[in-house]
Amino acid sequence: MSAAPAPTASNGDDVSRPGHVAIIMDGNGRWATSRGLPRAVGHERGVEALRRTVEAAQKLGLETLTVFSFSTENWRRPASEVSALFGLLKAYVKRDLDRLTREGVRIRVLGTRAGLPADILALVERAEQRTRDNAKFNLCIAFNYGGREELVRAAQAAIKAGLEGKLDPDSLNEDTFEQFLDTSDLPDPDLLIRTSGESRLSNFLIWQAAYTELVFMDVLWPDFGESHLREAIETYMARERRFGGLASGAA
Ligand code: FPP
Repeated sequence: MSAAPAPTASNGDDVSRPGHVAIIMDGNGRWATSRGLPRAVGHERGVEALRRTVEAAQKLGLETLTVFSFSTENWRRPASEVSALFGLLKAYVKRDLDRLTREGVRIRVLGTRAGLPADILALVERAEQRTRDNAKFNLCIAFNYGGREELVRAAQAAIKAGLEGKLDPDSLNEDTFEQFLDTSDLPDPDLLIRTSGESRLSNFLIWQAAYTELVFMDVLWPDFGESHLREAIETYMARERRFGGLASGAA
């Protein structure tokens, strides 16, 4: 059996700098409660941190930024908080879409569309359509996203393709399966950051993060900015990625 080809960094051979950074934006609630403010205010400040981070990511030469904005598990939160998060997505897209389009940003929304209200669906589709030809920077917003749900949806799509005669089951391998994921045309993240001091993946990009470098930071998401992104990138650059192989010079 021949060895599987070694994965590489998302920006080709240059393993020294990350091309794709993913972020679990955690700590909005704690940021607000520690100041005696409603949790929704923490999420509002979280959107400001997202704006700063998108700008910093473009400035620092990243190609793709993927952020976890609403998980399939977040439906368990009080209806008022769910509604606040939906409102923030709408406000973000409405306020920033023109500028992001001008800046050459392509927007993708990862996750299941099932259960999303019609106005959110229309907004998401408009943002994706308007920016589909942009190629300077990818902003992927994981909204109503869960890694296991994505894998089940991908498996369903692969089985359906098989039943329709469009996919030979024997040809199914990691590469062909990836075509059914929400991230089919994106490289895997090189670096995944989680803020707020928690050290879990929480069902985020569980397939795509198989070889991703994880950086957990103590800062709460509303306080995150360019300096934190730089710090995470520096931590990443000091690591050696082996993708299951040997350290360089060890062979
Ligand atoms: C986790 O903090 C954060 C979320 C569940 C939502 C993240 C959302 C934003 C940053 C703003 C929304 C952005 C868009 C584009 C919709 P938490 O509430 O779990 O914080 P906690 O762990 O301190 O309670």
